[in-house]
Amino acid sequence: MIKSKGWNWKIVKDDPSIIWKNPSIESYYLLNRWASFEMKDFLDLGCGLGRHSVLFAKNGFNVSCFDISEEAINRTKQWCEEENLKCNYKVGDMLLLPYKDNSFDCILCRNVISHTDTEGIKKIIKELKRVLRKDGECYLTLGSKDTWGFKQESWPLQDPNIRLRMEKGPEYKTPHFYADYDLCKELFKDFEIINIYQVIDYYESDGKTFDSYHYHLLIKKI
Ligand SMILES: C[S@@+](CC[C@H](N)C(=O)[O-])C[C@H]1O[C@@H](n2cnc3c(N)ncnc32)[C@H](O)[C@@H]1O
Repeated sequence: MIKSKGWNWKIVKDDPSIIWKNPSIESYYLLNRWASFEMKDFLDLGCGLGRHSVLFAKNGFNVSCFDISEEAINRTKQWCEEENLKCNYKVGDMLLLPYKDNSFDCILCRNVISHTDTEGIKKIIKELKRVLRKDGECYLTLGSKDTWGFKQESWPLQDPNIRLRMEKGPEYKTPHFYADYDLCKELFKDFEIINIYQVIDYYESDGKTFDSYHYHLLIKKI
């Protein structure tokens, strides 16, 4: 199995305007959805700089912040403390979550679980099921095989679903798993798939336009 490798957050400045400091669009929907179900215990799996940990903690959830990067957890903790929010913080690898069975009502792992290989993905999905309560929900994203990154033939292909990203930046040499619709359905066959859709993000870098395709899944433990 590929060795897990987190982001190098040390090279990302704490500028309040960057995307990593501003909650994703769907997180506001999830906040309302999960609050309306009176869910409380929330895991921000692969929390990064903590944009979703802060949002959910501010809105009354019991938040556990988890990331393989110590820098990510330190910066999330610092941000929460500045906002007078109390959360739980753990550094670790998502392949083996340091939480008891049935610990969480809801889990958000946005742009996180793709950082491994096919064997790793299957392990993480088992871990998600283990730590979620019955009827608990998880929102996650998976890179799509339609995206430009998967089509970079000069980037090393580690198994039929995995490439190492080779562009300079915080993700340098991190493994990325890419799925298609059938593979998404197969991977999450033990859950109820509430919805699944593919999103294209457009962004500009070095004068070029990139289109980044991800599957977004909302799943429920049955
Ligand atoms: C693209 S960032 C997303 C951060 C956050 N979810 C957000 O939306 O702002 C991916 C995060 O996953 C973390 N990560 C990567 N591999 C991991 C692993 N094996 N276990 C835990 N976290 C991991 C990285 O360190 C990084 O913080």
